[in-house]
Amino acid sequence: MVPENLNLVPFVSVENMMDLVLEIGIDTFLRELAEFIEEDFRRWERFDKTARIASHSADGVIELMPTSDGRLYGFKYVNGHPKNTRSGRQTVTAFGVLADVDNGYPVLLAEMTILTALRTAATSAVAARYLARRESATMALIGNGAQSEFQARAFAALTGVRALRLYDTDPSASRRCRRNLADVGLDIRICSTAEEAVEGADVITTATADKQYATILTDNMVGPGVHINAVGGDCPGKTELHRDILLRSDIFVEYSPQTRVEGEIQQLAPDHPVTEIWRVFTGVAPGRSSESQITLFDSVGFATEDFSALRYVRSKLSGTGHYTELDMLADPDEPRDLYGMLLRREAQRREPVEA
Ligand SMILES: NC(=O)c1ccc[n+]([C@@H]2O[C@H](COP(=O)([O-])OP(=O)(O)OC[C@H]3O[C@@H](n4cnc5c(N)ncnc54)[C@H](O)[C@@H]3O)[C@@H](O)[C@H]2O)c1
Repeated sequence: MVPENLNLVPFVSVENMMDLVLEIGIDTFLRELAEFIEEDFRRWERFDKTARIASHSADGVIELMPTSDGRLYGFKYVNGHPKNTRSGRQTVTAFGVLADVDNGYPVLLAEMTILTALRTAATSAVAARYLARRESATMALIGNGAQSEFQARAFAALTGVRALRLYDTDPSASRRCRRNLADVGLDIRICSTAEEAVEGADVITTATADKQYATILTDNMVGPGVHINAVGGDCPGKTELHRDILLRSDIFVEYSPQTRVEGEIQQLAPDHPVTEIWRVFTGVAPGRSSESQITLFDSVGFATEDFSALRYVRSKLSGTGHYTELDMLADPDEPRDLYGMLLRREAQRREPVEA
């Protein structure tokens, strides 16, 4: 039996994604999403893995991020344009597709700008659970743009972080971030320098956007025992940490062939030892092994995280009404009569409109 309505694909718009997230609750959404992300990292061997396909230009990058676990296939389209905020646009926007591997038909199309912020933050927090000191309570958050509140929410929901130290070169960004987080129950202080923000911090999250080798953190700013969650350096020629910090850190990455090109470790020799985070999640490799160790999660974002996010959203959709059905796939009555479908449409268009 051929199912009806093969032309229709569930589509989650920005408005529907926001309603879904709010209905589930931001904290619950982050926690459940984190479980899906960790679960998929634990099935690492099952995934078809490729470094994302990037098209670079003077002001940014457009990337495609595909992966498959053999049953579902997913990809995300995402851009990164640090100058965009000056023209009222987001630095990062995204949408993604999940498809059934058996027949290749898409089963979900979704906005992923909000979903990317949630999945990036959830991934950071899961990694920190294995890499930060257990009693970590204070996080410096440097770069207070679109990602920042999501990072704060994920650390508050998934780790013991209860205090935030904010710093941004644009003080209005820090003020917005503090205002938006007013009801979350975090102790928040705006700092006037990055040095002040990292003073006494257990975790340092960097989420700045600049298309250059930036030095958001210098070596003297990172003391023993700190966990660095480096989110903003995610493109060739776009980093945030001084190289000397990398040399003192134990470095954890998502998929090393991609991170060696895009992450902080592009500053290091191609054979510098790093640990893929799935090895830590599965217990094959240790996470933090001493109180004084500096751990660095050199996050660039990997396709499985988006796959997990789409898989999670799909699992939550039924019965919510937070999607529409898009007439996206041509579905002629007889599969090979695609041209005939066009002819029938032409005939329909010629029919005189009833008065
Ligand atoms: N690792 C991942 O998976 C992942 C996912 C999403 C975004 N990102 C990256 O995270 C970064 C932040 O993204 P966003 O959407 O929040 O960008 P955004 O443009 O909204 O915010 C960036 C903020 O950084 C601030 N900033 C720039 N230079 C700074 C400096 N030297 N010191 C302090 N603050 C500085 C800006 O004023 C701005 O407020 C981008 O580089 C983006 O590409 C990474």
